[in-house]
Amino acid sequence: MSLKQTYEFDQIVNDITNHERFLDLKHELHHGISRYEHSLRVAKVTYQISKKLHLDYERATRAALLHDFFTEKEMANFTGKETFKVHPKIALINAKKYFDLDPKQENMIEAHMFPVSNVLPKYKESWIVTCADKVVASHEMYRYKAQMVLGIWLIFLFNVIAIQK
Ligand SMILES: [Fe+2]
Ligand SMILES: [Fe+2]
Repeated sequence: MSLKQTYEFDQIVNDITNHERFLDLKHELHHGISRYEHSLRVAKVTYQISKKLHLDYERATRAALLHDFFTEKEMANFTGKETFKVHPKIALINAKKYFDLDPKQENMIEAHMFPVSNVLPKYKESWIVTCADKVVASHEMYRYKAQMVLGIWLIFLFNVIAIQK
């Protein structure tokens, strides 16, 4: 992002990124990084695409940032599979508790797991958030897995060298 875009992005999100409850996400693991970092990436991608398409980019950026606003503690009573469907609803409850949302933003958060969850993205911005999340998540998981594979190969290599000595 350009300096101008970075400044504007910060203006749009800074009350959220500095909020005490949202900062908790810095301690939550998500795709091998923190949920805070993941959410920020999804918000940045949403900002760039929705601005380029002349959509409601400010609201979309804020909703994208809040799309995974939940903690592991809140998910403790759900199985891994249930978590996929339930976490957008928990994120929406938390987002509404601390920030003002309009119905469009509510849909952006609630529908971000479509088609895993049965909440349909009703707006262009909702489609952007769900697609941005998938692209960012795939990138993060692939990078994480790539690091793991590299780690396993390095351990294997060190063992081979150790055996030869
Ligand atoms: Fe999510
Ligand atoms: Fe996400």
